[in-house]
Amino acid sequence: MEPKSLIIALFLLSLFFGSLSATPTRKIKARNPCKRLVFYFHDIIYNGKNSNNATSAMVGAPAWANTTIMAGQSHFGDLIVFDDPITLDNNLHSTPVGRAQGFYLYDRKDIFTAWMGFSFVFNSTQHKGSINFAGADPLMNKTRDISVVGGTGDFFMARGIATLMTDAFEGEVYFRLRVDIKLYECW
Ligand SMILES: *[C@@H]1O[C@H](CO)[C@@H](O)[C@H](O)[C@H]1NC(C)=O
Ligand SMILES: *[C@@H]1O[C@H](CO)[C@@H](O)[C@H](O)[C@H]1NC(C)=O
Ligand SMILES: *[C@@H]1O[C@H](CO)[C@@H](O)[C@H](O)[C@H]1NC(C)=O
Ligand SMILES: *[C@@H]1O[C@H](CO)[C@@H](O)[C@H](O)[C@H]1NC(C)=O
Repeated sequence: MEPKSLIIALFLLSLFFGSLSATPTRKIKARNPCKRLVFYFHDIIYNGKNSNNATSAMVGAPAWANTTIMAGQSHFGDLIVFDDPITLDNNLHSTPVGRAQGFYLYDRKDIFTAWMGFSFVFNSTQHKGSINFAGADPLMNKTRDISVVGGTGDFFMARGIATLMTDAFEGEVYFRLRVDIKLYECW
């Protein structure tokens, strides 16, 4: 390369990297979701007596507690695995359209908050495939957003946000979550 063109190349290169570091924080444009879906799922928690009906089980607890009764201090350290029915309305007895499968773990001592990782698994005439979710769930808040990190089948490469809302909570035995899924990437 001629020295002159080398200087020009270096100049352009410095402009390029300069522009990278000088890029102001980008404003995220509010977009409309390309797909929106609302489901409910129902979690029946094992309480030492309902092994027939329970759809979730505590599989881990801190050394100072046990896996039968939720630990004190906001259940900190409890890990729960679930296989919950998904319905289109808020009725536990409606025909399920899929299963919500995964786990949540309580991860704070002073307030109830959890981290969730789970999939919606569909195998119906309406939907086939899965949607995968992950994120922090500050469950005392009326609504909270978790990430839709991916999907398969009908939901190939899905990405977006799911707004969770506790639709019912009955003691330590049953809760129902409303899941408002907004996908911003659809294929
Ligand atoms: C659990 O299931 C049994 C039958 O499988 C039913 O009779 C009972 O009412 C159920 N209990 C609850 C709390 O849903
Ligand atoms: C589990 O812990 C609870 C409360 O701490 C206690 O009442 C219960 O007896 C324990 N159960 C077992 C099986 O250890
Ligand atoms: C989905 O449902 C069909 C028909 O009931 C069944 O043959 C198939 O094995 C199911 N697939 C999965 C992954 O459960
Ligand atoms: C949840 O609620 C608390 C107070 O109730 C608030 O400080 C916090 O910002 C909320 N978190 C989210 C993610 O909305």
